[in-house]
Amino acid sequence: MLTAYDATMASLLDRAGIDALLVGDSLGTVILGYETTLPVTLEAIIHHTKAVSRGAKRALVIADMPFLSYQTSASDAIRNAGRILQEGGAAAVKLEGGEPVAETVRRLTSIGIPVMGHLGLTPQSVHMLGGFRPVGKTLEEMDTLLHDALALEQAGVFALVLESIPANLAGKITRSLTIPTIGIGAGPECDGQVLVSYDAFGLFDAFVPRFVKQYAKLGEAIIAATKEYIADVEASRFPSAQHTFQVPGV
Ligand code: KIV
Repeated sequence: MLTAYDATMASLLDRAGIDALLVGDSLGTVILGYETTLPVTLEAIIHHTKAVSRGAKRALVIADMPFLSYQTSASDAIRNAGRILQEGGAAAVKLEGGEPVAETVRRLTSIGIPVMGHLGLTPQSVHMLGGFRPVGKTLEEMDTLLHDALALEQAGVFALVLESIPANLAGKITRSLTIPTIGIGAGPECDGQVLVSYDAFGLFDAFVPRFVKQYAKLGEAIIAATKEYIADVEASRFPSAQHTFQVPGV
């Protein structure tokens, strides 16, 4: 799984054979320039999900439920998840948290809305966590994570994202569940992996987490191409005859 926020990127990743596209609320940081995901609105998620759904022909499109779109009540969660599916065209939603959101997950799945869970470093709780830090290093955090994972599975999530937790704990959770786990900064023992596409392709380089592998340096390529374009225009090399047309009699 990779994140996507627009139709062009969704189409490229889809054509490359990606299984699932996540319209992550990471769009707050990599697309909208915020420092956290907290300012991301439901309208923004729906707007970007529409674009991704138009670009993806084959991959499963999953969209994040943004902060305060599901924590307030199960009926808010149903209404908002419903809009993400009905207006955005997603096939599933993802939400953060364990046991405290299990009842909401149960309500959503009972009316036919597929839900992906998200445990570990849950960015919507950044202030509660005390920063963007790995989770699951203490015995208490390990027990809570395992307990939350089982509670989410019982509530009906079809898959579970595990973010920034120790690899061996991610392995233990994966072996304890029947649903697939999707890791990010959680080692190789998860069933699948997810990365933020802007990280994976070197587009967002303000901060590169340790767990990210950059599969391309598109940011550098774009800067180099932009410099070449500026130089061409300033030297009148672009547009050339090949890029222009004339009408007779002028
Ligand atoms: O918002 C996001 O992109 C995510 C992934 C990091 C899993 O939740």
